[in-house]
Amino acid sequence: MSERTHRIAPSILSADFARLGAEVEAVTNAGADWIHVDVMDGHFVPVITLGPAITSAVGRHTELPLDVHLMIEKPERHIDAFAGAGASVITVHQEVCPHLHMTLGNIRSLGCKAGVSINPGTPLSVLDPVLDSLDMVLVMTVNPGWGGQSAIPSAIAKAGRLRSILAQRGLEHVLIEVDGGVKVDNIKDFVAADVLVSGSGIFKSDDYGATITAMRAELS
Ligand code: DX5
Ligand code: ZN
Repeated sequence: MSERTHRIAPSILSADFARLGAEVEAVTNAGADWIHVDVMDGHFVPVITLGPAITSAVGRHTELPLDVHLMIEKPERHIDAFAGAGASVITVHQEVCPHLHMTLGNIRSLGCKAGVSINPGTPLSVLDPVLDSLDMVLVMTVNPGWGGQSAIPSAIAKAGRLRSILAQRGLEHVLIEVDGGVKVDNIKDFVAADVLVSGSGIFKSDDYGATITAMRAELS
């Protein structure tokens, strides 16, 4: 039995964008904890998705925290816009954010929680200098860009190792988020995380409520 609180964060990347408001309301009513918003720029990742205007629109359909995952180059240029759009958490990628302390401080100064994400091929060690300056680490368990991929085992293992590192450094308050390939049938593998993002695992299921309930049961 895990003592940690697990939060389920449906990724709207796999929602029906033509009915986005209804989709956000549906997962909210189905028991989601956070709404995960995947922002892609066509540069850091090949795909273009959505920006602050749609993030703001999503917020009009839920009271849940908006968890904004910036898969974009030069994310520091867009922090103000996403904070203004109602983000509760803003996560930038280490691979494209050279001045991390400054960017994390900027995110916090705008009243948001500050996160840093690393790709599956990026080692945990790059986070050492900033672990005491952030609120969340997003461990990507697939290469970012698309929903529906399979989680990479070595990336899943990083969440467990990060849990130990945070405990050793007295940073238990830092949240660990995992993102990519999380489904009911493998969610137990991600039990070291606090926040579990699932896109296709929830939005491609027939019954969002039953899926989220089953995910919680697997984690308990
Ligand atoms: C991937 C995104 C994920 C994506 C996960 O680049 O950051 O949030 O939506 O999708 P699934 O859960 O389908 O792997
Ligand atoms: Zn994401």
